[in-house]
Amino acid sequence: MSHNRNATLLLLCVVFLSWRLSHGGKILVIPLEGSHWVNMDIMIKALHSEGHSVDVIRTNQSWYILDGFPHYETITVPVVEAFNHDFIQPVLKKIINIERGEESFLTFASLQVEMFDAMFNMHRIISKMATSMLKDEDFMDMLRERQYDLVFTDPAWGAGILLAHALKLPLVYNVRWLTSGEGHLAITPSPLSYIPMTGSGLSDKMTFIQRLQNFFFYLLWQFQDTVFTNPQYQAVCDEIFGPEVKYRELLQGADIWLMRADFVFEFPRPTMPNIIYIGGFQCKPAKQLPADLEEFVQSSGEHGVILMSLGTFVTELPADVTNEIASTFAKLPQKVIWKHKGDKPANLGNNTLLVDWMPQNDLLGHPKIKLFVAHGGTNGVQEAIYHGVPVVGLPVFFDQYDNLLRLAARGAAKILSLATVDKDDIFLNAIQEVLIEPSYRMNMQRLSRLHKDTPMKPLDSALFWIEYVMRHKGAAHLRTESYKLPWYSYYSVDVVLFLTGALLLVLLTASMLLRCLCITVRKNKAKRD
Ligand SMILES: *[C@@H]1O[C@H](CO)[C@@H](O)[C@H](O)[C@H]1NC(C)=O
Ligand SMILES: *[C@@H]1O[C@H](CO)[C@@H](O)[C@H](O)[C@H]1NC(C)=O
Repeated sequence: MSHNRNATLLLLCVVFLSWRLSHGGKILVIPLEGSHWVNMDIMIKALHSEGHSVDVIRTNQSWYILDGFPHYETITVPVVEAFNHDFIQPVLKKIINIERGEESFLTFASLQVEMFDAMFNMHRIISKMATSMLKDEDFMDMLRERQYDLVFTDPAWGAGILLAHALKLPLVYNVRWLTSGEGHLAITPSPLSYIPMTGSGLSDKMTFIQRLQNFFFYLLWQFQDTVFTNPQYQAVCDEIFGPEVKYRELLQGADIWLMRADFVFEFPRPTMPNIIYIGGFQCKPAKQLPADLEEFVQSSGEHGVILMSLGTFVTELPADVTNEIASTFAKLPQKVIWKHKGDKPANLGNNTLLVDWMPQNDLLGHPKIKLFVAHGGTNGVQEAIYHGVPVVGLPVFFDQYDNLLRLAARGAAKILSLATVDKDDIFLNAIQEVLIEPSYRMNMQRLSRLHKDTPMKPLDSALFWIEYVMRHKGAAHLRTESYKLPWYSYYSVDVVLFLTGALLLVLLTASMLLRCLCITVRKNKAKRD
C-alpha cells in the first residue's frame, strides 16, 4: 500500500517536473552595457521566476554584466578591445562650456564629430565581436546544441540581430534605440510634421521653422546611419551570410518589439501590431528603506526630502558646478539625498546626504519625497512618473532633454541647463517653484494614475509576448511587409509616376484627336464654301 503511494508520488513528481520543463523556455539574451543592462536584468529576473532558463552573452571586459547570479548563466566572449566610456567626462565638460557660451561654433562642431566618432567606434567593436562569434564554428555549434527558443536582445547594439539570423531563431527586442536611431522610425509610418526627432528638443506642435529643424535632424540621423553605422554591420553580413542578406532588413524583421515607451509619456504617434509598449515595466511599489536612510528621511519633518541623481554615466561634474549645486541645496529647509561620486563639495550643507548608491525606486515611492532633481534618463523619468514625484531636470546628452521635455509639456517638470545652475539663483528658483506651485505635483500624480490604469502590468505584458513568441515559434503574422519595400514603392512614387504618365498620354492622345477633328471639319467647311 505504502509502496503504491510512493510510486504515485514519484509519478506526480515526474509529471510535475516534465510539465515545468515543457513550459520553461530557453532564452539567449544579448544585452547592452550600462543603464540598459539595469532594466534588461529586471526582465531576466522575471523570466527566470516564470521558469525559463536564460543565458547571457557578454564580453570578458564587461563592466556591468557580472557572473555568479542564480537567475542567468553567462557565456563569455573574449574580445581584445572593449567599449570605453572614458570619453564621457571630456564630452561633458565641453557641453557645459558650450552651453555657457564660452566656446565657439567650432567646438560645437568638434563635439558632434566626437560623438559620431564614439558611436562609430562602439559599433566597430560590436561588429568585430559579432564576426568573431559567428566565425567560431565551435562556439556556434555550442549555441545550436543548447536549442534556444528565441533570441532576446537590445538592438541599440547589432550583435544579437546577427546571431538570431545565424541561429535561425525568433527575435524579440527590448527596445528604445536601434543602431539606426529611435526604434519607431525603422518600422512605423512617422510623418515628420508632428513626430519630433530625438535631439531636436521639439514637441509634437511645430511651427514651419521648427518643422524645418526637425527635417534637418532627420537628415542628420539618416546620414549617421547610412555613412557610419549600417555599413559596419552590413560588412559583417557580407562576410558571413553573403551580400544578398541586408542588415537593415534583419534589423526591421524582428518578431516582437517590446518598446520601452508609454503614451502617458510619449507624444501620440502611429504604431504597428508587433510593437508592445512596456514603458515603466521596471517600476514597482516602494519597499521599506534601510534603517539609516529611513531615519534621515523622517528627520526632514514637514519639509520633506529632495532626491538628486544624474544617472550611471555622469559620475563627476566640474567642481564649480557641484559647489553651486551644494550651496543651493544648503539654502533649502528640505533635506537632500544626492547620489554623487566625485570629491565632496566644500560648501555642502548639513541638510545634504551624499551617497554612492541609493535605492531610487524605494525612495521615490516614499511619501516624504517632494522633488526629484534628475538628468532625464528613461529609467529615472519612468520611475518618477510611476511614483508621481515632480522633476527638476538637468539634461546632459542623448535623449535626456527630449524625455524631460515630454514631462515639461504636461506641466510635471521644469528643465534647466547644467551650465546655468550658477547664474542668479536659477536653480534655487526652479526648485522652489516646483516645490511650492501645486500644479507640478498634481500633474505628475495624474500621469502616475494614467500610467497605472492599464488592463495588464507592463512587465506581465512583456512576459506574455515573449512566451507567445516561444509558443508560436515567432510572430511573423504580426509583421508588416513594409520593410522589404524600396522607398519608391513604400511611398507609391512608382504608382504615382505611372498614373501621371498614363494621364498625360490620354490627354495628349485626346488633344491630337481633337486637333485632327478640327482640321478635318475646317477643310470640309472650306470645301463647301
Ligand atoms: C579578454 O580576452 C582577450 C583575448 O583572449 C585578451 O587579450 C584580454 O586580455 C582579455 N581581457 C580580460 C580583461 O580578461
Ligand atoms: C545646520 O546648519 C544650520 C545653518 O548653518 C544651523 O542653524 C543648524 O543648527 C545646523 N543643524 C545641525 C543639525 O547641525
